[in-house]
Amino acid sequence: MFNIVIFGPPGSGKGTQSKLIIEEYDLMHLSTGDILRGEMARKTPLGLEAKKLIEKGELVPDDIVIEMVKNKIDENLDQKGFIFDGFPRTCEQAEALDRLLEERNTTISVMISLEVEEDELVKRLLKRAEEEGRQDDNLDVIKNRIKVYNDVTCKVADYYGKTGRHRPVDGSGDIEKIFDRICGAINQEKASA
Ligand code: AP5
Ligand code: MG
Repeated sequence: MFNIVIFGPPGSGKGTQSKLIIEEYDLMHLSTGDILRGEMARKTPLGLEAKKLIEKGELVPDDIVIEMVKNKIDENLDQKGFIFDGFPRTCEQAEALDRLLEERNTTISVMISLEVEEDELVKRLLKRAEEEGRQDDNLDVIKNRIKVYNDVTCKVADYYGKTGRHRPVDGSGDIEKIFDRICGAINQEKASA
């Protein structure tokens, strides 16, 4: 298996780039945000619990998210690999993911970290609010999502950095150009593997 984490603040393009990456490298997209929004839409007990936190821009508890990811991995062990989008978001999640993958004789090869200025993130998410009406895309919640990223989530980059797996990529400009930069980083990783 070849597994990647795509990382970055809200609006940095994780979902947009994941769609291109899965085509190019034949990976399975595993987005915890998408799974949670699916649970919310179906009004499951987990969805109703998560809704209260997501609408405030707060993180859903680690144990819930880790269990969700574990199930998704085990349902898809026949895949060539995964791209994890929006997960891990805490160091506890990162450690749990490493353990889960190790137990299945695989690992995260590289973490692609999209770097985008805060003004641009807010601009993109407010535009998406007009186009799609995602419930957590309003200015107050966007500000809190960015705060949670800066306070908690960005430490996950150091976690991967310690084992030489953190690759920062400029996430500004054209979607296609960003994708080229990401492929450059992934191909370099594949060549050295
Ligand atoms: P999640 O769904 O992961 O949201 P997020 O991290 O806030 O990120 P977004 O999905 O908003 O942005 P993105 O980086 O995917 O960018 P996108 O490609 O969409 O999480 C939502 C919530 O769920 C969390 O707040 C938390 O409550 C909970 N949660 C999820 N995972 C969790 C976890 N592991 N632990 C605990 N809680 C968790 O792009 C954004 C917009 O910009 C789009 O409209 C796109 O078309 C546009 N765009 C993209 N690229 C460009 C470009 N280059 N130029 C111009 N526009 C662009
Ligand atoms: Mg996303």
